[in-house]
Formats: sequence, C-alpha cells, structure tokens
Amino acid sequence: MTDKKTFEPCDLVIYGALGDLSKRKLIISLYRLEKASFIEPDTRIIGVDRHDMGTPEFIETACKSLQAFLTDDLEDIVWERFSARLSYLKIDLTQADQYRQLNTVIDQKSRIMVNYFAVSPFLFKSICQGLSASGILTENSRMVMEKPIGHDLKSSREINNEVASVFSEKQVYRIDHYLGKETVLNLLALRFANSIFTTNWNHNTIDHIQITVAEEVGIEGRWDYFDKTGQLRDMLQNHLLQILTFIAMEPPANLEAENIHSEKIKVLKALRPITASNVEEKTVRGQYTAGYIKGCAVPGYLEEAGANTESTTESFVALRVDIDNWRWAGVPFYLRTGKRLTGKRTEIVVYFKQLPHNIFKDSFRELPPNKLIIHLQPNEGVEIEILNKIPGIDEHIKLKKTKLDLSFSDAFKKNRIFGGYEKLVLEAMRGNPTLFLSREETEQAWTWIDSIQNAWNHYKDTPKPYPAGTWGPVASVALLARDGRAWEE
Ligand code: BG6
Repeated sequence: MTDKKTFEPCDLVIYGALGDLSKRKLIISLYRLEKASFIEPDTRIIGVDRHDMGTPEFIETACKSLQAFLTDDLEDIVWERFSARLSYLKIDLTQADQYRQLNTVIDQKSRIMVNYFAVSPFLFKSICQGLSASGILTENSRMVMEKPIGHDLKSSREINNEVASVFSEKQVYRIDHYLGKETVLNLLALRFANSIFTTNWNHNTIDHIQITVAEEVGIEGRWDYFDKTGQLRDMLQNHLLQILTFIAMEPPANLEAENIHSEKIKVLKALRPITASNVEEKTVRGQYTAGYIKGCAVPGYLEEAGANTESTTESFVALRVDIDNWRWAGVPFYLRTGKRLTGKRTEIVVYFKQLPHNIFKDSFRELPPNKLIIHLQPNEGVEIEILNKIPGIDEHIKLKKTKLDLSFSDAFKKNRIFGGYEKLVLEAMRGNPTLFLSREETEQAWTWIDSIQNAWNHYKDTPKPYPAGTWGPVASVALLARDGRAWEE
C-alpha cells in the first residue's frame, strides 16, 4: 500500500457538501486526518452544493458539524490549518452548464481532481454530464461513490454505465466503509501472515463460521430510504459479503488491488445460489416490534416516524451460505444482521472441528471446539478459546475453557484506531484502489442477492416479528439448530 510520503496533493471536490454524509462523516474524517498530519499541505477541499452561500458560511457549517459530531475536542491549531483548505461553490447539480465554474477553482497542473459524489445516486448522471460538459476532467481525475450502488443488478449496472461514460474503471473508487475498518483489514494480516491460521483455514479443520453484524439503532429517521431497501440490500449485499470474501478468499499473490479484487470475485462466484427452491430453509427475515434497548422503550418498525404500517420490509436477516469450492466444501457460513438487536456487535466466530476422541471425560462429556473470535467492533480484538488444565494436584485432570485474548486497545496503546471513512478518504486521495470495490464485484454481489430477493418476492414472504432488544426472531435460532449448531451469544 502507498506510503505516507509519496502521495500527491489534490483538489477534493465534495458534491453534496451540505448533506448528511458530508456533515456526519466526511468533514469529521478529513479533520481527523488533518490532525494526524495525513493531508498533503497543498490539498484543498471544495464543497459543492445548490445552496446559496459563500466560503465563510461553508466554513462555519463545517465548524458546526465538527462541534456536533466530533467525539474529541476541536483543536484551534488543527482547525486553523483545516479551515484554510475549505472553499465553497454553489452549483445546481442538475444543471450541466453550471459545472463550468469548477474551471475557475480547480488547478489540475499541481493537483489531482478527486470528485466525491456524496449525493443520492439519482444525481450521479447529472454530475457526470456536468463534469463532462465542463471539459475539466483529465485521465488523472478520480471519482468516489458509495452505496447504494443501485438496489439490484439492473439499477447497479445503470449507475455503473453512467459513471463509465465519463470515468474509466481505474478512475472509479467505490466505497464500502467496512473495508476501511482496521479490524476488517486485519483479517488479511491474521490470515496471510500467521502460519497457524494459513494452514488450518479450510474444511479439514473448520466446522463452520458465523458472521454477526448487530446494530442497536433503528432506522434513524431514514424511513424512506430504508423501507425501499431493507436489511438484505442495506447491509448484507455489501458489508457482510465483503467480510465474507475477506474470510473466504484464497491468498492473493500480493496486496495489489487487482489481485485482491480477483480473489474476492472468485468467492462471490462460488456462493451457492439461494433460490425459490431452498430460500425457506436457508433464510430468515425479521422485523422488530416495540421493545427495550438498554432499559429504554423503543417503538417497533411499523411505529417509526413516517412509517407505512403495512410495510413488509425486513430489519433482520439470517442466512446459511455455502461456498462451492475446494477450500470450503461442507463448511457453512451463517450470516446475520439486524437493527434494534441486543447491542452493537460486529464479530466473526470461526468454530474449529471437534476432536475425534475425548480422553478428558471427567471434565467434558464432549470436548467443546476451539473458537477464534474476531471482534470487529466495538472493543476491536481477537480471542482464541482453548481448553486448559485447571492447576491442582487432584487425581483427575480437570479442564476449563479459557481465552487467549488480544485486545487492540491494550496491545497497541499508542496507535489510535482510525475510522473506516478516514482510511478510505485518505486512500482515495492517495490513489490506492486496493480497498475499494470493482464494478465486477458489486455486480456479482447483486446477482447473488437478487436471487434471494426474488425468491422472497415469489413467496410473498412476510418478516417474522422480534421484540427490539433481542437477538432477532426465534426462526434464526432454528436456522442453526436444524444443523445441530447455535449462534454465539
Ligand atoms: C450503513 C447502513 O451502510 O452502515 C446503515 O446504511 C448502518 O443502515 C451502517 O446503520 C452501519 O455502519 P457501522 O459502521 O455503524 O457498523
């Protein structure tokens, strides 16, 4: 991956600079990068939006966002440096002729132009047309976009085609913010730098793998977006499948983007399709009803502000996924994700196979399997559950389950764990495509997800209710129980 000293300054243009994504995530991430001295001295940040305001008001808005969303203090010296990079341009994003104004501020002789589309995809076409009409783009320009890249294969292709009419594939940076998370990246290190895992990472030693992305939050006022989308498309198509590909892929030849992308695509292509013939046995859909989160009453999905009380959109999904390749034959992956669950928890649990014979029957009638638990958030870290002898001089050896526990905050006390957006915004500015999604990857993921969605539509499947503050519908427990297994709780 690129190194701190070698990247070039850029003009980062944020379209939708006054929108939610920009205020909540981008400005905060850029400020943090500034604080850590990761932004090139000559880099500038140009906010573009349709509201009538000048640079001073934009700077004030950025300051307010930082005061509202920054968890640490706003430092004067950092703010001074950061605010000096900011400027604002009023452009109605739907008006192609207005993009010419960019020519007055962008300086491509000394800076690379990085176009961040922080807007709803329905505006992507206009932005592409406007940029094209302005004649400002060069082969060095980049564009950054993030989900939702469509709501199915067809719409995702349309978006990708629009973007491709102006930017070549190597200029496009598709963000999945989970790929910027420190612990997701650490999966590469864990798997490919440690021989104890590289040699045991297959159907010979692994029984099954669970991936849980549990959220405490509900839909946070995003009814319109979420109700049309649902948890399958909002979380599983991207974040969970990305984690899955990192866990399941073959070792890439090196860390070059091309090699990583091609290994991930092979995994996506090997996912056994879930269709109308097996959807009932392999999937569970849920929708939360009123309940309690940390002792506070919260409304059910259908009682959220602006809700359509007839909605059958799922806020929870659990799946059994099979990967049809040599490495993973017979090893199921169980994925679950939901809103308003017991707590915020993203983790991967690798269950190793049970031993064929037990010589410690005094302690365990059946020896429990070893487990590797990777906590992606919160409390980032890795644990290995092993059996140990309880110290003592008893006649019989007694065993107990114990944990080898590596907490990142203890092990790397001096290193701050950067957020996903910080990492990805920086990599886009640096021009390192490794952690971004290729077009083929997004489309392959949609192909697999569409088949599940179509099967649900076919059966007019209604989601199973679960009270907020629980681990989802009982059917999710049954999904594993049918295979003689249970979720890690
Ligand atoms: C987003 C989804 O992509 O990820 C949200 O649209 C979800 O619905 C969020 O809440 C979760 O991200 P994180 O980083 O908080 O796990």
